[in-house]
Amino acid sequence: MNKQQVQERIKKLKKVINYHRYLYHVLQHQEISEGALDSLKHELYQLEQQFPELITPDSPTQRVAGKPLKGFKKVKRKSPMLSLEDVFGQKELEDWQDYLKRLVPGQKFDYFTEMKIDGFAISLIYKNGVFWQGSTRGDGITGEDVTQNLKTIESIPLKLEIHGKLSSKEIEVRGEVYMEKKDFEKFNQERKKRGESVYANPRNLAAGSIRQLDPKLAASRPLKFLAYNIITDLGQTRHSQEHQVLPQLGFKTDPGKVCQDLDEIVNFWKDIIKKREKLPFQIDGIVINVDDNSLFQKLGKVGKSPRGARAFKFSPAQATTVVQDIKIQIGRTGALTPVAHLKPVEVGGVTITRATLHNEDEIKRLGVKIGDTVIIDRAGDVIPEVVKVMKELRTGREKEFKMPRACPVCGSKLLKAAGEVIWRCPNPKCQAKQKRYLYHFISKTAFDIKGVGPRIIDQLIAENLISDAADLFEIKEGDLIPLERFAEKSAENLIKAIQAKKEVTLARFIYALGIRNVGVETAQDLAEHFKNVKELRETKKEELEGIRDIGPEVANSIYDWFHQERNLRFLERLKKVGITIITPTLSKISRKLEGKTFVLTGSLKSLSREQAKEKIRSLGGDTSESVSKKTDFVVAGENPGSKQEQAKELGIKIINEKEFLQLLE
Ligand code: IVH
Repeated sequence: MNKQQVQERIKKLKKVINYHRYLYHVLQHQEISEGALDSLKHELYQLEQQFPELITPDSPTQRVAGKPLKGFKKVKRKSPMLSLEDVFGQKELEDWQDYLKRLVPGQKFDYFTEMKIDGFAISLIYKNGVFWQGSTRGDGITGEDVTQNLKTIESIPLKLEIHGKLSSKEIEVRGEVYMEKKDFEKFNQERKKRGESVYANPRNLAAGSIRQLDPKLAASRPLKFLAYNIITDLGQTRHSQEHQVLPQLGFKTDPGKVCQDLDEIVNFWKDIIKKREKLPFQIDGIVINVDDNSLFQKLGKVGKSPRGARAFKFSPAQATTVVQDIKIQIGRTGALTPVAHLKPVEVGGVTITRATLHNEDEIKRLGVKIGDTVIIDRAGDVIPEVVKVMKELRTGREKEFKMPRACPVCGSKLLKAAGEVIWRCPNPKCQAKQKRYLYHFISKTAFDIKGVGPRIIDQLIAENLISDAADLFEIKEGDLIPLERFAEKSAENLIKAIQAKKEVTLARFIYALGIRNVGVETAQDLAEHFKNVKELRETKKEELEGIRDIGPEVANSIYDWFHQERNLRFLERLKKVGITIITPTLSKISRKLEGKTFVLTGSLKSLSREQAKEKIRSLGGDTSESVSKKTDFVVAGENPGSKQEQAKELGIKIINEKEFLQLLE
């Protein structure tokens, strides 16, 4: 972008951010997630860093949240309450350190890392060791006197454990008022029962409670306080020392950790992510401070944020980015899927560059164009999706995307069945389809051929060594050795890996055939119902429909597949190259989950979703994609989606990963 385009973008970003802030703070209504809004603010901040002359006083980056309320006495403070600049991801962390090193060349930086509590910032002043005044941040300099409300919070000491000369000093401590997750949920449930609106997060509730004019209301809410800063000079030279002193004064604080370098910071961050779910309160990242207080002071501030500190946020499940292109992907059944190619963005902890747009109807529904700013979501799910187009940010230079009517690979005229939304390439020999089919065939849930991935498949096709899956089993070492990236040993290993998978279960075999509408679960059902492929092949359509969980559409696909000459030839070829179907010895297998239906949501740490499903099925259980009265367990991993909420509403048992693993044992 040139400067003029940046200026135009900044103007639009400001408008959109202000609009959403107004919605959220004034109308208490939310149109886009906090993650998405943060993403926009972050982009604005970065553009302004690039062109500081474009920063205006009314920019959302130039203010600290909240204005003083009318009902409270105003408090003016000498040392302003600042806010923190965010970094998302390791790259931005490195950029920050490089920046510090440029500012103070030759300086070695130590850092102090601690949890970032998702609460409401408060300043406490003690006179002669006694709690005298507490205030909100307000605009940083002027806050609201909420002393009476703060006095109701048990974890705020009314008298400090301090004696001698220091106790005569006026001591200022800052920290966060928050509500524990369990109390927050209980509170919301009770409001719900009374038909009242619920709070979006503990932070809003904590803020709302502290800014109540009636202290009785604050007292009725189980608020807590966690301290993170001592503003007064009590002889400390490092931030880490403040965290040692705070508990001695009578405050709860996070012990944190001194880190010598960025690797240690990242490890601390990762550790906290692991612990996050089990913590009693919500956190939204970690705070990193340059540990040496005089160095921290020397670094100063930019706007309202200190240069010597950053919030290293957890990546939210939603973020905004720009659609740089829309390209077509052709699946193994010939289905054309439009895919958005994105400006790289970190969302849900990983950087992504692609998001599916599903089909032509979805593109129309979203109204997405090339060049648009969009919200990406990967909550609980593995496949990132475009959920909203920020049309307010358009420049007029966006380009409309037209779905092709001919296959972009083989040129065949595309077909769309009546009532369907998906366009398909009908050409069975289409190279794109064949490739995709081969990727499917070797995948973990199908033949699971280790060491063979899409790249090797592409290479084998390009070298004319294979044209279908059966060919894979006929390749010999000598075919591979002349190829790029292959040596004798690697060629031998690959052949071994392929040959090792000639024996396969019926369920995997059926799944590997790539029949439209036959996923892992249906393949499993079919394998349980039929003794062998021959039996399945000879079954009538009506009979197929009688099998549990198989509807007319699926029955049709299966029947059609087994009645196409080229598919039967393929089955023959697989037999000829030595594929044999084995039956797992059922007697040895426990059926302890028989009759139980599981729904998985969020990501599990120790196994993939497919592996989890396979485990459940291998123990006789069933899995389903949606929560209903028939569900017995919802397994909630990290970042669970709406399924967890549905389960709560229906009163279905929710178990975490540990409990799930215990069930499988
Ligand atoms: S240090 C320069 N430490 O996060 C501001 N802040 O986004 C000094 N917060 O305004 C703040 N936990 O309300 C600091 N351990 C922690 C924190 C923390 C939560 C809040 C605080 C601050 C906001 C900045």
